[in-house]
Formats: sequence, C-alpha cells, structure tokens
Amino acid sequence: MSVERYFQKRADEFDALYDESRWWYRLDRLLRRGLYERVELTLGEMKELGNFSVLDAGCGSGRNAVLFAGAGAQRVVGIDFSARMIELAKALSRNRGMDTRCEFIQADFLEYSASERFDVVVALGVFDYLADPRSFLQRMMQHATRKVIASFPRASLIRAPIRKLRYGLRNCPVYFTTEDRLGELCHQAGLQGFRLVPYASSGLLLVGDVAGAKQPLDEI
Ligand SMILES: C[S@@+](CC[C@H](N)C(=O)[O-])C[C@H]1O[C@@H](n2cnc3c(N)ncnc32)[C@H](O)[C@@H]1O
Repeated sequence: MSVERYFQKRADEFDALYDESRWWYRLDRLLRRGLYERVELTLGEMKELGNFSVLDAGCGSGRNAVLFAGAGAQRVVGIDFSARMIELAKALSRNRGMDTRCEFIQADFLEYSASERFDVVVALGVFDYLADPRSFLQRMMQHATRKVIASFPRASLIRAPIRKLRYGLRNCPVYFTTEDRLGELCHQAGLQGFRLVPYASSGLLLVGDVAGAKQPLDEI
C-alpha cells in the first residue's frame, strides 16, 4: 500500500488522535507525546515572527493548520495528497471560523510548484514516510522565505523497530534517522543554518533558517 492510500484509508482514525473528547485521549497524550509536542515546539518557533504566512506540507486533517492560524498566521495553506484528509481539514477550518485564513489543496507536495512563497514551511509527521527526503526538503526551502520546520523520527532502539513492524504489516514504509544523517541531509539540500531540537522520546525537530540558504533548485 502506498503512503497516500494508507492515509486516505486511515484519515479519520488519524484525525481522532487530536480529539480531546475521547476517553483515551489522555492515554494517547502519554503514549504518543511526540505528536503533540512537535506542534507545540513549532508554535513556539512562530511566536517571534509578527505577521507571517505558513505552508503546511502534508497537513493531514488540518489540526495544526488551524492552530497556526490561531497563533497569528494571516494565511495558511495546507497540502496533502489524501482527499479525505483535505475534506476533514476544510470542515475543521470552517467549524473553527478559520476558513478565511486557511486554504487546503489536495496535491502531492513533490509536484507542488506555485509561485507563492511563505514565511514558514512546515512538515510535521511527514518525513517518517519519505523515501526521498532531500527532494522534499528542497521543495520546502523553495517555498520558504524565513524558516523551514520539520519533524523526524530518530532510529531509537525499541520504538523504531516496533513501529517499522507495525507499519510494515500494513504495507506502509516508515523511515528513521539520526542526527548525523540529518546533518548530511541538510548539507545536501543546501540548508546551512539549522538547529535540531529533541522532543518526546525519539523525535527531532529540524528548524532551518532559509534566509541565507543557497538552494540548488535545478536539482529538485
Ligand atoms: C502522519 S500524517 C501528519 C499530518 C499532520 N502534519 C499532523 O501532524 O497532524 C502525514 C501526512 O502526510 C501526507 N503526505 C505524505 N507525503 C506527502 C506528499 N508527498 N504530498 C502530500 N502529502 C503527503 C499524508 O497523506 C498524511 O496525511
């Protein structure tokens, strides 16, 4: 099963992870700390930006996009290749009264090439599923004027093999990384200024400064 089909099929199940009214939400907050912490850290990175716009690549059901709008983003564009995710995202932003600031587009981000640029380009929980992280990161840089922010799962001793097996059984590939490999990825993508912020038990948040980056766009 491709990543696209996997998330199309499980869009509602994934979205429910953010539903605070479920009785097992508190348990998920403990077991899946990374899912919630990565967006909190990302919101923290946006605090100082003043007026800003966000491109949310692999936005899923739009849960984070509406938070970015709530945190002051004047414009948020979310892109996801799952039609069901985009449907959920549109409904959510309407329900939250954020649909004037949020736009959602069904597309493969690797093929997305609008001329619009954004202060921040975000990809949370997406690199986990990417066979070609360099092209994705470069495309993020191509659309960003200030920051790129992306989460990565670390190749941890226990969680990573369990997750690989769980997703493998559902025919969905999942990839893990290390600080060294991430450094190499940034180098190859032409991202010079970046920080890696550890979160939860095995997450790494890449916060990249694209303002001075040389982008090898011809290689995308
Ligand atoms: C684990 S979900 C994370 C969703 C959201 N960012 C969040 O944190 O709630 C990963 C999402 O990335 C999307 N995705 C993965 N690769 C993509 C690509 N190349 N183009 C567009 N969407 C993609 C999937 O469809 C899925 O909805």
